[in-house]
Amino acid sequence: MKNIAVVGSGTMGNGIAHVFAQYGFKVSLIDVSADALTKAKATIDKNLGRQVEKGTITEAVKATALSNISTTTDLASGVKGAELVVEAATENVGVKLKLFQDLDSLCDASTILASNTSSISITKIGAATKRPDKVIGMHFMNPVPVMKLVEVIRGYNTSREVTSSVMDLARVLEKTPVEVNDYPGFVANRILMPMINEAIYTLYEGVAGVSEIDSVMKLGMAHPMGPLQLADFIGLDVCLSILRVLHEGFGNPKYAPCPLLVNMVQANHLGVKTGIGFYVYTPGSKDLVVARRQ
Ligand code: CAA
Repeated sequence: MKNIAVVGSGTMGNGIAHVFAQYGFKVSLIDVSADALTKAKATIDKNLGRQVEKGTITEAVKATALSNISTTTDLASGVKGAELVVEAATENVGVKLKLFQDLDSLCDASTILASNTSSISITKIGAATKRPDKVIGMHFMNPVPVMKLVEVIRGYNTSREVTSSVMDLARVLEKTPVEVNDYPGFVANRILMPMINEAIYTLYEGVAGVSEIDSVMKLGMAHPMGPLQLADFIGLDVCLSILRVLHEGFGNPKYAPCPLLVNMVQANHLGVKTGIGFYVYTPGSKDLVVARRQ
């Protein structure tokens, strides 16, 4: 494969475009918003710059990577000639199903359609197309240029051949692909989200404060971020919606989201993206300051 299209240029989309371009693929980055595309290119430039500063890539690799990326707001021209499309659009079932129907009619018959969804059923997305054998989950982790895992999700009808080419492709990006079957939350979020939810319950029940909970998990379990900081990093709205998928998908009350999480999402305290969650975030500062309730 040489030509990749990435749909959606938010945090995940720009990270995915970044790694493909860094490893020599031609990437067409597509978004409905021209503004978002401009921001995405600037973010990729900045993140490649960090790698140059660290000496992990050269200026030449950075320049080639940037020149490998083209951007467009037009889906039809953007996916033309793509051998793989990686969808990283809004995490909304309706949006994804419509997008995959459009991709199915616009792309060559041989094109593999992958979704970076964190929890929506790959089988359901595949069933919205006439090529469910070529629909697969390619779940990258944030920050994409740093995290080694790609969770490769086989939908009920995803073919063995498509699964192995996506596994091989992830290895070309120097990632470690792990194949999993399509059940709610797959593996990553089925395990991560109950831990985050339990941390929020621990806070809600007054067992300990925000920094105490995070310190226990950082220092006691060697997690790079505590679960509450990680929830802020992922976005509390995203955590809530994944927990709802788990709760509904398994019908098991153990996945019920903590009422404090629900309240915080309703209050628009979504974490890093709104500047406040369990912590407050000041642009330019790396200090972790616990958010206080009014
Ligand atoms: N692009 C390129 N490089 C980046 C980067 C980016 N976007 N973000 C960070 N880096 C690099 C830094 O340059 C730095 O490089 P060196 O190690 O070579 O110095 C390294 O990553 C570490 O970054 P920092 O020094 O700035 O900060 P840190 O040491 O605190 O690490 C972190 C930051 C990598 C994010 C770390 O805290 C971490 O691993 N956190 C947990 C992340 C995690 O769990 N991600 C998964 C979330 S779940 C998900 O994504 C899926 C889902 O469905 C919800």
